[in-house]
Amino acid sequence: MKPLGLGILGSGKGSNCRAILESIRSGALPAEARVVMSDVLDAPILEIAREFSIPNAYLPPGQFRTRLEPNVEAELAQMLRDAEVELVVLAGFMRVLKLPMLQAFPRRIINIHPSLLPKFPGLEAWKQALNAGETITGCTVHYVDDKIDHGDIIAQRVVPILPNDSAESLHARIQVAEHELYPTVIAKLCRENDRRP
Ligand code: GRF
Repeated sequence: MKPLGLGILGSGKGSNCRAILESIRSGALPAEARVVMSDVLDAPILEIAREFSIPNAYLPPGQFRTRLEPNVEAELAQMLRDAEVELVVLAGFMRVLKLPMLQAFPRRIINIHPSLLPKFPGLEAWKQALNAGETITGCTVHYVDDKIDHGDIIAQRVVPILPNDSAESLHARIQVAEHELYPTVIAKLCRENDRRP
């Protein structure tokens, strides 16, 4: 199978990126990480990319807080295309993508979110689930559209909320589920892509 070219974008600690890179290294995931990009100069995700010898770059995001400046976003799309990225994987990327990226990669951008969407989009979704008195929550992989934590759902994993859970313990268990789910879903997309004429 021809490996699918991934571009991974993240703003933070990069544990999902690490899970994906480990899965590629183990041979379970028939993909190739072509580039890792971050809008945060000292984000640990860039360090992880270097550890795995994956080309990586910091992308100065511009003046906005929750999105990229349009020219920066166009530049990002061009960099990903130049790197022959076929699937864009958001792994804790804290900015909303807009038309330049959505048009460059239609139905080719996925995200992982720490709740059972459509419940609890937005920040600290595990705290939202805990505060709402839910008994289960989980994580969702979905295609990205122009709304926050929205777009067709590809797969979900349920995580029970235990009576004595704190926000930290719940978040940690959701992350364990994320690290299993995300590489599994990407592997499924790789197989589907390989079957395309
Ligand atoms: C994950 O919990 C993911 O669901 C959310 O951001 C977090 C990123 O964590 N979108 P990490 O940087 O992969 O450790």
